[in-house]
Amino acid sequence: MNKIINQTQFLNYDIIEFDCVDSTMNVVKNFSANTIVVAQSQSNGKGKSDRVWSSENNGNLYFSVLLNASDDKLNYSQLSFLSGLAMREAIASFDIKNSILLKWPNDILINEKKCCGILLEFDLLSKKLVIGIGVNIKTYPINTMFNATALSNESIDVERYNLLKEFLNNFNRLFDEWKKYGFSVIREKWLKNCYKLNQKIKVNEVEGIFKDLDKDGTLILETKDKILYVKSGDIFI
Ligand code: BTN
Repeated sequence: MNKIINQTQFLNYDIIEFDCVDSTMNVVKNFSANTIVVAQSQSNGKGKSDRVWSSENNGNLYFSVLLNASDDKLNYSQLSFLSGLAMREAIASFDIKNSILLKWPNDILINEKKCCGILLEFDLLSKKLVIGIGVNIKTYPINTMFNATALSNESIDVERYNLLKEFLNNFNRLFDEWKKYGFSVIREKWLKNCYKLNQKIKVNEVEGIFKDLDKDGTLILETKDKILYVKSGDIFI
């Protein structure tokens, strides 16, 4: 429990791997910015909207990145899209045949089943951001609200650390673009592999057509009688 089993550096990050933690979201906050905490398992893996993220020691990837978020001119919540894009590209680089799509705001689907979830937490006091990512590499939970899958189940064969490194390469490249050109570049790339764009969806229990993302990543939903701007939530169907 809470034993460090590996410590390495990659790019500008210190990567610390534990055997088991409650949640990498909590443990990473004990370190300095640009630390990544990876765990083989989590006893209290956190998902969005207080859901549980199933985190057994089964070869899946669970990690959190701690970043400085102290520039008041930047909208750090946009990094949830950037992270999804970076992980999608990482998974796609090990794949040759599957449909890999981004489900608003930051899930990744392979063949319409969820294989990756992303959770962002801000600490307003310290001005730090934690990006937590879980990827089902080997196994996936059943009876979830949205059907799940694992990379191995879709014939994608990748080792956890190789996926993490590919993600970090992509993340840093996209982060530089985001700082240089703003969110518009990320938004455009994100929309190219978007699940159900211009199709019927149900988001926060409301049905409508997913028309677009606005310039900040808000989902634009055309319902029977009005246009809704959805800032947070989850798509089902
Ligand atoms: C979601 O609900 O889709 C987000 C899931 C995020 C899970 C990851 S696993 C690593 C990090 N630690 C956690 O406790 N949660 C995130």
